[in-house]
Amino acid sequence: MINDGKRSLELTTIYEISKILTSTINLGQSLNSVMNVLDKFLGMRYGTIVLQHKESNSLNTIISLGIDKERHIIFKSGEGIIGKVFKSGFPIVISNLKDEPTMWKGMNFDEDTIARFSMLCVPIKSPSRVKGILSVVFSKNENSISINDALSFLIMVGSLIGQAIEISNKIKEEKEKLREEKTHLQQALTSRHKIDNMVGQSEIMIQTFQTVKRVAASSATVLIRGESGTGKELVAKAIHYNSLRPDGPFIKLNCTAIPETLLESELFGHVKGSFTGAYEDKKGKFELGHNGTIFLDEIGDLPISTQLKLLRVLQEHSFDKLGSSKSTSVDVRIVAATNRDLEKGIEKGTFREDLYYRLNVVPINLPPLRSRRSDIPLLIDHFLRKYNDENSSKIRISEEAMGYLLNYDWPGNVREIENCIERIVILSENNIAKIDDLPSEIINANKFTFKFEQDSEEDDIEENNIRDKKDTPLAKSIEDIETERILEALKKCGWVKSRAAKLIGLTTRQLDYRITKYGIPFEKPW
Ligand SMILES: Nc1ncnc2c1ncn2[C@@H]1O[C@H](COP(=O)(O)OP(=O)(O)OP(=O)(O)O)[C@@H](O)[C@H]1O
Ligand SMILES: [Mg+2]
Repeated sequence: MINDGKRSLELTTIYEISKILTSTINLGQSLNSVMNVLDKFLGMRYGTIVLQHKESNSLNTIISLGIDKERHIIFKSGEGIIGKVFKSGFPIVISNLKDEPTMWKGMNFDEDTIARFSMLCVPIKSPSRVKGILSVVFSKNENSISINDALSFLIMVGSLIGQAIEISNKIKEEKEKLREEKTHLQQALTSRHKIDNMVGQSEIMIQTFQTVKRVAASSATVLIRGESGTGKELVAKAIHYNSLRPDGPFIKLNCTAIPETLLESELFGHVKGSFTGAYEDKKGKFELGHNGTIFLDEIGDLPISTQLKLLRVLQEHSFDKLGSSKSTSVDVRIVAATNRDLEKGIEKGTFREDLYYRLNVVPINLPPLRSRRSDIPLLIDHFLRKYNDENSSKIRISEEAMGYLLNYDWPGNVREIENCIERIVILSENNIAKIDDLPSEIINANKFTFKFEQDSEEDDIEENNIRDKKDTPLAKSIEDIETERILEALKKCGWVKSRAAKLIGLTTRQLDYRITKYGIPFEKPW
């Protein structure tokens, strides 16, 4: 029977062990500490914790006391004493280690000493299954605790360790699940803001990305409209490469770049001798684009005579090569683009109305950058990364220069931003590009608008003078643009002024100043 003093020590030890096992999520560290506490209680010669490896199923020594790392053995379920305890889930007691020569072979003790040693092996059990084995070798004579008491004590410890392992595994699984969820959400977010190499976070661009994805899977004809440099060709490519025929050809034909006399031959091909100079048969873009996409750029410049032939391809999916009376059938998807006002063309009779309706099955309008200003910082960042990568440089843009870039109207749209950033990256002499490194048109454009950026009292007076003259269209447009940008930034940053200010390159004070000056309603939606 265990005496009261021993009982109390046993309880204290169990309490200490459970405290260790619940105080940290670093299992290895806790098991080490548990072993040390056990050693104090039992006065161990040797002690090991063996756990089953998840993938190989082998039984590996995780913690050992009194045994060199090099002598750690990998066990197998069912083999040897450790393997037997693991397989059966029941403890094994060896009262006299001398009876078990395999167990003390490596120990540097004589037989008499070995005879004083006992070994206890207990399973480390979670409620569901055996996870490993706790084994200790201790000297009966040096220890006042009986083998039976030591056994029931170790069974308790084995079960505590088992539960700690179960909890630790659950935490690991949860962590893994959260990590996967995070990656998944990040990917979803990225794909909302990105298609191929297109970036944008304005409402209109997010909608465009969704339209591109939806339309890409069909074979519908798409008409992309927008000012020069807004990304029409990029959208056309995104439609092709996200379609069901991404491996098919993407053939581009610029309707403006080819002389009218050659255009039909370019589109439909010709047979040898069909006109002077047709020395051999030639395939046209439609034939080359079979099973792929044809991108007809600047469709608004297509001569009216060719428009009829194009209409026939759209309706019948077939055409005649020049000089041939045999129709050729093709399976192509047509994506057209223009920056012209086609409706005006119809009015003037330069564009066929029936072709217009045939092309305009899915219209995609790319607005100019000045009306989707929230895309500007994202595009700057995108091109900065791209050109820094290409040039192995690490150029950043100073706060003031960034203010200029964010304030500029970008009449050449995304192409102008791209060229500007490439130029900055190539030409900047320091790692931080300053105002002087910007193209002169941006510096000049900002000279006027940045009169608004001063916060001093004298400037307030000047500002008021300007505001008094705010009926002039220019002053009005700047105020409108700034108000729109500030509201957009505030919404995007959850109405946190400091963040919104950072986004548009202002200090919080400057932002506050504008909110008051323009009477911007600072209303949170909640
Ligand atoms: N949203 C965007 N994200 C990243 N890059 C873009 C984006 N939009 C356009 N670009 C880039 O800007 C440049 C101009 O785009 P693109 O050639 O597609 O414009 P476009 O509308 O066809 O112009 P144009 O009418 O002058 O032919 C290209 O280098 C393109 O990769
Ligand atoms: Mg283009």
